[in-house]
Amino acid sequence: MNPNDEVIAGARDRALERIAAAAVEADLEAVRVEVLGRKGLLAGVSKDFGKMAPEERARMGKLLNAVKQEVETALESRKAAFASAALAARLDSEWLDLTLPAPPPRRGSLHPVTLIQTEIEDLFISMGFTVLDGPEVETEEHNFDALNIPGDHPARDAQDTFWLTDGNLLRTHTSPVQVRGMRKLGPPLRMIAPGRVFRNEEVDASHEHTFYQLEGMMVDRDVSVAHLIFFMKTLLTSIFRREVTVRLRPGYFPFVEPGFELDIQCLICGGPGCPVCKQSGWVELLPCGLVNPNVLRMSGIDPEQWNGFAFGLGLTRLAMMRYAIDDIRLLLGGDLRFLNQF
Ligand code: DAH
Repeated sequence: MNPNDEVIAGARDRALERIAAAAVEADLEAVRVEVLGRKGLLAGVSKDFGKMAPEERARMGKLLNAVKQEVETALESRKAAFASAALAARLDSEWLDLTLPAPPPRRGSLHPVTLIQTEIEDLFISMGFTVLDGPEVETEEHNFDALNIPGDHPARDAQDTFWLTDGNLLRTHTSPVQVRGMRKLGPPLRMIAPGRVFRNEEVDASHEHTFYQLEGMMVDRDVSVAHLIFFMKTLLTSIFRREVTVRLRPGYFPFVEPGFELDIQCLICGGPGCPVCKQSGWVELLPCGLVNPNVLRMSGIDPEQWNGFAFGLGLTRLAMMRYAIDDIRLLLGGDLRFLNQF
């Protein structure tokens, strides 16, 4: 027997064994090179062909071809198995069910200050008031002088002002919109003006450099403190959704005479005193008063014919009370964990 028979059979067995045991596709290529390659085991055998008798050469050639074929077929089918396993793994990981309902869109919500603001706007619109807007960059005249606060007036010191280099300023309150309203619309006038105001304040849990107020003004004939109290009580009852008890104390603002601080009876303790009202039973909320005749005159309204009331609600403060928010910085922070609660 030709010793090449044994070489061929051994090469075949080893090749089939390694093909079956291949863990990755690269293993197959190594087997192919080693067995079928130009310098592979089987190629070694064909080198001896020259020394063989013709019929022996023919038999060897046939055998060699048969083994080559067998190894090639085994390689191909193992290769196909690797490919289909890879495809299955890919389909598994990239699987997508197009019939599933889409995730719902993420819905935004209104900021707590906006919620209160729109509520108050709706209420005042229902009572015949107009909602006005004014610029956040104001002139000194609108913010101070026309409100009876001339340049040398000590009341200017009470509002730490951001002055701009051109002599204008960031409005320190919404009261300049009173002036704009009176000058533009004239009497009789019922207006509110919600908006952002700015003060050069040290920031802490209850102070911000940027916060919201809501200004209100009514100019008509024979307006009295009784009218003022009526509208303020209506406002507070609607916001707090219950009857609130109010009291007026004298308060000084150059643009009203008389001027008041309107307090509400503490909604937490109902009167006897608690930490929220600092044991007084009352919470200061709403400065207001009857419009100073000088203010009417400076905006072209005859104080002999007309008078009115005005108020300046701390909108930010009110939102904090209504929603029990104990740090003002949350309102400007843009933290979604906070905002998502509204
Ligand atoms: N503008 C005042 C402030 O920011 C608040 C104020 C007080 C407004 C009395 C008014 C008012 O309209 O009548 O301190």
